Amino acid sequence: MSHSHEKVETNVGLMAVLIAVAVSFGGLAEIVPLMYQAEAVQPLPGVKPYPALELAGRDIYVREGCYNCHSQMVRTLRFETERYGHYSLAGESVYDRPFQWGSKRTGPDLARVGGRYSDDWHRVHLINPRDVVPESNMPGFPWLEKNRVDGAVVEHRMKALRTIGDPYTDEDIAGARDAVADKTELDALVAYLQGLGRHAPRGGQ
Ligand code: HEC
Repeated sequence: MSHSHEKVETNVGLMAVLIAVAVSFGGLAEIVPLMYQAEAVQPLPGVKPYPALELAGRDIYVREGCYNCHSQMVRTLRFETERYGHYSLAGESVYDRPFQWGSKRTGPDLARVGGRYSDDWHRVHLINPRDVVPESNMPGFPWLEKNRVDGAVVEHRMKALRTIGDPYTDEDIAGARDAVADKTELDALVAYLQGLGRHAPRGGQ
């Protein structure tokens, strides 16, 4: 036994290989349970796949790169829960693909922004943030007001999400085009923002 250990200690190549094996076991022990846990996460009560208009808004949020300045994850720290509300739970984002948790906060976290402002406030703010927050350095997104949402695209996205497990019904998909008919990208993005955190537990703790 002591002899074989000496072999490992005097052979750098063998030692490197064995270290790699030992470390990868450590990694597996941490990662594998998380993979199963992620599959077992249940949506919180009331959390449903995004309705057509909000889904379109979510895609615009990603396209415009809002995540480069905004996280959507309230951490379990007192100063965060005091400012934003209840910390984020996995069961809130089961239908977020990809999730928008992020970590970059040039602007505030948006996980609890739904209902904090009126639709009109958001519209003005998204077109030119300085009209409502004079010191803001957030860019304006004036083109959102001019672009229409493409119902055919939304319908296809809902079908695609259904194939990977989101429980959209046939009626949801059949109604998608009507739900976004004549809506602008601004309407969709505001609907998405107003839905954020709607099903979060109440209270700061
Ligand atoms: C360059 C960084 C940057 C980008 C990109 C950005 N924002 Fe902001 N955002 C900010 C900053 C800074 C603030 C705080 C000042 C203000 O309210 O305008 C803010 C504030 C906000 C607020 C108000 C939050 C609150 O709790 O008061 C919302 C809502 C918002 N942004 C949405 C968006 C959306 C949607 C997008 C993408 C279309 C976006 N932001 C892109 C920097 C950014």
